[in-house]
Amino acid sequence: MKVAVIGSGTMGSGIAQVAATAGCAVKLFDLNQEALTKSQNALEVTLSKLVEKEKISAQDKAGIQNRMLYVSSLADLSDADLVIEAIVENLEVKRKLFSELENIVSEQTILASNTSSLSIASIAASCQKSERVVGIHFFNPAPLMQLVEVIPAVQTSEATLQKAIETITSWKKVVAVAKDTPGFIVNRVARPFYSEAIRIYEEGVADFATIDAALKTHGNFRMGPFELMDFIGHDVNYIVTETVFTSFYYDPRYKPSFSQKRLLEAGFLGRKSGRGFYDYSQEMPQPTTNDALAQNIFERVLVMLINEAADALFLNIASAKDIDNAMTKGVNYPKGLLAWADEKGINWCVEKLDALYNEYHEDRYRCSPILRRMNRENQTFY
Ligand code: NAI
Repeated sequence: MKVAVIGSGTMGSGIAQVAATAGCAVKLFDLNQEALTKSQNALEVTLSKLVEKEKISAQDKAGIQNRMLYVSSLADLSDADLVIEAIVENLEVKRKLFSELENIVSEQTILASNTSSLSIASIAASCQKSERVVGIHFFNPAPLMQLVEVIPAVQTSEATLQKAIETITSWKKVVAVAKDTPGFIVNRVARPFYSEAIRIYEEGVADFATIDAALKTHGNFRMGPFELMDFIGHDVNYIVTETVFTSFYYDPRYKPSFSQKRLLEAGFLGRKSGRGFYDYSQEMPQPTTNDALAQNIFERVLVMLINEAADALFLNIASAKDIDNAMTKGVNYPKGLLAWADEKGINWCVEKLDALYNEYHEDRYRCSPILRRMNRENQTFY
């Protein structure tokens, strides 16, 4: 298969590597020659490390590099069977690119966008043959993260969807099909991991270190929410939160926090700027050791995550299996949230959410109807 990747930044470079590793002939295009050279050099470093670690052979490395072509004109992509766009996250720029592409590629070529936050329908609408447009959303770093969300727009044909699923699966990725709604699966379902943790902090229940430790020791999450936000960067994480919130017509469940907004305004972007929630020039603060408090914090964040996952299923955003795979393989959650709900008991989830709602009377704590119904009918997700 001939694959074209547009944009040789973080994501495009990773996607190109995945496709070339899977045996595809890949053309990588970027408007910026420097970005292309940087990508080519970075691939050399990455593959050399893999050879050193004996993950791939020297022949594999040569094969991957031989299948990669770095091109400096859009017209060079004319023979592609599949184009994956990973350029700047700007609707007008993407729409212009997609409409130009249609004049270059064949009628059969599938045109995919790696967008995290734009609607696929709005990108597809820039094409005459909009049924060939689909969302193919990789996670960073693309060569390491197993999950890829595939998002059909209202215009996407069944044949395009099936071809996209088949191709991405053959690249040894786990596909989760998501409805074309804000945040798709991962960026929607993961919101409470950040927002509920911040809320717990804002209420003065515990400090960052204690909340992080609670999620790691009691929930087995690899990183606590504050560490993770600092790692992702508040420029990225806050913007995703705000985009999801505005895209959902200001549903209060997704309301961003002032705590995080102020960090962004202050330029405390997290690890990359030396300071975020934590100050990395100082010794890291120690968590308070209080097992009951930690358990409470963990359960409050967990039940909010479960509620969000259940609601995504309720609204047919994706299947239960795809929702669980998305969180374990896209953001390394220790368990699928719906499987976790079964384990905790649906009744436990409903009671916990109702207790929060009774305490606060805020919409963010309203229990998803699917959990309530399942509880009444004694059902489980699996
Ligand atoms: P980036 O800024 O690292 O790379 C973008 C590249 O696109 C740059 O090299 C730029 O020169 C090039 N570019 C911009 N406009 C272009 C055009 N009209 N034609 C050709 N090349 C053009 O960005 P990144 O982080 O790789 O993101 C790319 C896309 O992937 C965005 O849509 C983003 O939302 C999405 N995405 C990003 C993730 C991340 O964690 N960074 C995760 C999943 C999706």
